[in-house]
Amino acid sequence: MSAAPDDIILDIRDLRKVFQVRRKGQTHEVRAVNGFSLQVRRGETLGIVGESGCGKSTLARVLLGLARADGGSVTLEGRDLLDSNRRNRAETRLKVRMVFQDPYASLNPRRSVGDSVAETGDIHRIFASRRDRAEQVGRALDAVGLGARFAASYPHELSGGQRQRVGIARAILPEPDLVVADEPVSALDVSIQAQVLNLLAELKARLGLTLMFISHDLGVVAKISDRVAVLYMGEMVELAPARALFTDPRHPYTELLLTAIPRPDPSKRITGAVEISEPPSRLRQLAGCPFRDRCPRATSICASQPPDLRAVAPGRFVACHHA
Ligand SMILES: Nc1ncnc2c1ncn2[C@@H]1O[C@H](COP(=O)(O)OP(=O)(O)O)[C@@H](O)[C@H]1O
Ligand SMILES: [Mg+2]
Repeated sequence: MSAAPDDIILDIRDLRKVFQVRRKGQTHEVRAVNGFSLQVRRGETLGIVGESGCGKSTLARVLLGLARADGGSVTLEGRDLLDSNRRNRAETRLKVRMVFQDPYASLNPRRSVGDSVAETGDIHRIFASRRDRAEQVGRALDAVGLGARFAASYPHELSGGQRQRVGIARAILPEPDLVVADEPVSALDVSIQAQVLNLLAELKARLGLTLMFISHDLGVVAKISDRVAVLYMGEMVELAPARALFTDPRHPYTELLLTAIPRPDPSKRITGAVEISEPPSRLRQLAGCPFRDRCPRATSICASQPPDLRAVAPGRFVACHHA
């Protein structure tokens, strides 16, 4: 489903999250999310990609209210998601739901699948009766391809893929508007990954969800997303339709991520663009462009001036002085 460009469901403006980290007796600031803005369209799958440590999970946790923002604003359907008022918060909490990376860690081993799927509904008292609860849990388990009979199972009886389906059932039960999936297939066997990706895509279409799909793997992100935002050191460096980003990357960092994807056809391999190097420590803060020390195109302006995100083509935005 392609979303209308002006029907914005989630509006993130200049979002910031800073951690104080102690190393060798010194306190450092890690700007995990550093002035991130994004308008997510209703019904789209918005991919977020970047190397480990770039701030993807922190961004998700702030959106879900699991971590407190240090600046900026987030609205869902015009409602303030960062509102600290408990009652307002409880309402929006059901509208935005998260699927976590590790289905082993995110399920309580001592709770039945049904109780895990019902948990948020229990907390927010959304069930009219025990029967209603059982029906809603059964529907959610049906929707993810497991079936109501799994309600009596325990996590240790399930495979990794089945556990992640439980995680998805738990996310969709309260009929959210937005699902944020943080590396939802990264812990799964490659053979299972495609099944779970297909399930997410199918549920998104069927339930009219908006999906924010987070992964370090651009190959996976490009497959499922309508648009993709590339995150580097807590900042967005490129935003583009998934296909355009994949075939014609404009930011040198996006080129680097593409180089890291194995391609079966050697003629399609991107060569010589950027050396693959280790992501830098988040403890250091460069003046100018955060990517300049790894960038083959860097010039003096990159050292003195941080590049703004600017439109380079319809629907395409890049933060690079040389794009
Ligand atoms: N609770 C925390 N305390 C201190 N630093 C943190 C905390 N959570 C994340 N960080 C730091 O913030 C940066 C971004 O982390 P994270 O959002 O987990 O990245 P990603 O999900 O992209 O791998 C990293 O440098 C990480 O070490
Ligand atoms: Mg993460």
